[in-house]
Amino acid sequence: MHRICVIPGDGVGPEVIASARAVLDNLDVPLRYEETVVGTPSFEKYGVYITKETLSLATESDAIFFGALTTPKRRDYVSPLLLLRWNLELYANVRPSFCLNPAFCLVPLDIVIVRENTEGLYGAAERELENNAVLTERIVSEAACQRIIDFAFDYAKKNNRGKVTCVHKANVLRTSDEMFKKLFYGTAVNYAFYNKIRSDDVLVDAAAMYMCREPGRFDVIVTLNLYGDILSDEAGGLIGGLGFCPSANIGKKNALFEPVHGSAPDIAGKDAANPTGMILSAAMMLDYLGMPEKSSLIRESVRKCFANKNNWTKDVGGECGTGEFTKRLIKIIDEKAAIS
Ligand code: NAI
Ligand code: MG
Repeated sequence: MHRICVIPGDGVGPEVIASARAVLDNLDVPLRYEETVVGTPSFEKYGVYITKETLSLATESDAIFFGALTTPKRRDYVSPLLLLRWNLELYANVRPSFCLNPAFCLVPLDIVIVRENTEGLYGAAERELENNAVLTERIVSEAACQRIIDFAFDYAKKNNRGKVTCVHKANVLRTSDEMFKKLFYGTAVNYAFYNKIRSDDVLVDAAAMYMCREPGRFDVIVTLNLYGDILSDEAGGLIGGLGFCPSANIGKKNALFEPVHGSAPDIAGKDAANPTGMILSAAMMLDYLGMPEKSSLIRESVRKCFANKNNWTKDVGGECGTGEFTKRLIKIIDEKAAIS
């Protein structure tokens, strides 16, 4: 039995978590759930955004299943999600984006963005200077660059992906990003020789353009924290919206699975959220826990579900609310499971 720490959060978080839980419960997988709160509800009750108990629960669990969390306007706020990423050293943020139906994708994308998750501009110290200016410090370390590059090539190897592209801004950030690029090519030669994995590099601004114009040039992308965050939302937009994007935050001992989107306050409570990102995050969690047949069953069923326009969710012009979509997906999963 695997222990799963569930953090639904707020906004559409609890809605998409409920949908993904229904899918998982129906699959009869050996998971035991323990639910907890972080963020504002935790602050109101305990005076901290994440308690020591929640942090221990997350640390001891086999995986964390996270919905979404609204960022409050308070200046002292530190995102519990960032705290979990740092405390558990969830250094690799894996964000696949693939087109489920060309009818609602702008381009036929099929990429995986591997984003450095512990450094860069996230958690950067910001200092106000005298002349109404702000100084923001960004850390880029050789160790963190090397481990995310190793992760990306290893991911490509294990998932039969033929190419890894390094996305950076080394023409401007000539020390930090240049180091990232050099380390990338230092690793790429080994994978080219032993695993026939190709490699190249692209500046981040050009990468944003190529993703729209020549999506086929990308396979796995490895990049620094902020670039990965921005490019993965762009990728989401190109395949129908953020509701389609899953993610995994992987460390040496822990892992957290969450959709790429936030709490979507504009549609929260309206049964309008597309739960696909959360459901595909559940599939990534099953892969991580060693249940690849179950995760494939989910992925293939999601694809089959969206092949039929009657099952489309509201974000792509369909009629299905979160609940109705979940029901239809479960029916397809059951049919597929019965055949195989
Ligand atoms: P967002 O991702 O919540 O929403 C952006 C747009 O995508 C909205 O139009 C929303 O309706 C749509 N959208 C998002 N998820 C969807 C879904 N499942 N189905 C259909 N449409 C969906 O980003 P936004 O509005 O910038 O942020 C809202 C709040 O969420 C903020 O407080 C932000 O700080 C927080 N946030 C939290 C994240 C997390 O918990 N991991 C990540 C990103 C933002
Ligand atoms: Mg983001």
